[in-house]
Amino acid sequence: MNHEMIEKNLGLMIPLIILAISFGFLVEVVPLFFHKDMKTPIEGLTPHTALQLEGRDIYIREGCNTCHTQMIRPFRAETERYGHYTVAGEHVYEHPFLWGSKRTGPDLARVGGRYSDDWHRAHMYNPRNVVPESKMPSYPWLFTAKVNHKITPKKMEALRTVGVPYTDEDIAGASAAVKGKTEIEAVVAYLQQLGTVLSNK
Ligand code: HEC
Repeated sequence: MNHEMIEKNLGLMIPLIILAISFGFLVEVVPLFFHKDMKTPIEGLTPHTALQLEGRDIYIREGCNTCHTQMIRPFRAETERYGHYTVAGEHVYEHPFLWGSKRTGPDLARVGGRYSDDWHRAHMYNPRNVVPESKMPSYPWLFTAKVNHKITPKKMEALRTVGVPYTDEDIAGASAAVKGKTEIEAVVAYLQQLGTVLSNK
């Protein structure tokens, strides 16, 4: 059968495309659902603390993940720059995960501990303070806005229903743990733990 005939015949092309994609899904994606490494947390992995969790939500709200990936690919050029490549077991408690695919800024999967808290604060207030050529936006409002402590326990409960092992004590103490904290404190707490469980080994 020649290819032109398929291309000119929608009734034939549509079922064949569906067949090809289904086959790809079956072979590439379905096995991952049953693969142990995809679901087993790496040793030492703990769910985010209340403050880190709020920081993560601010990170998503501000669209940080549209410029920054959190996935180091297993290539030398990446591991030399960022550290150990990302493994699935680091992200089993992440809902949704923030791997991303477009890097306007550097990957942040292992940025935890690379800079001081003060560096992050200066950088977030105005990136040009510390990296003169930076084109990252400034986020000065994070320094005055307070974390909404009322909904933190609810967020944790929601995450627990999808398998994040928060304890009753974690949830009971969540509001108090973030009450009065500024958004910048939450974001820095979140950034400072990124990728540290694996790279500290
Ligand atoms: C428009 C794209 C863009 C957005 C949105 C953005 N960044 Fe960036 N970011 C960059 C660029 C470009 C750099 C590299 C220059 C620099 O260090 O400022 C960078 C650098 C960084 C670094 C330093 C990384 C390193 O390894 O040196 C951190 C940390 C960071 N960004 C955090 C954030 C956070 C948190 C947010 C959201 C509140 C955010 N960024 C939003 C573009 C962006």
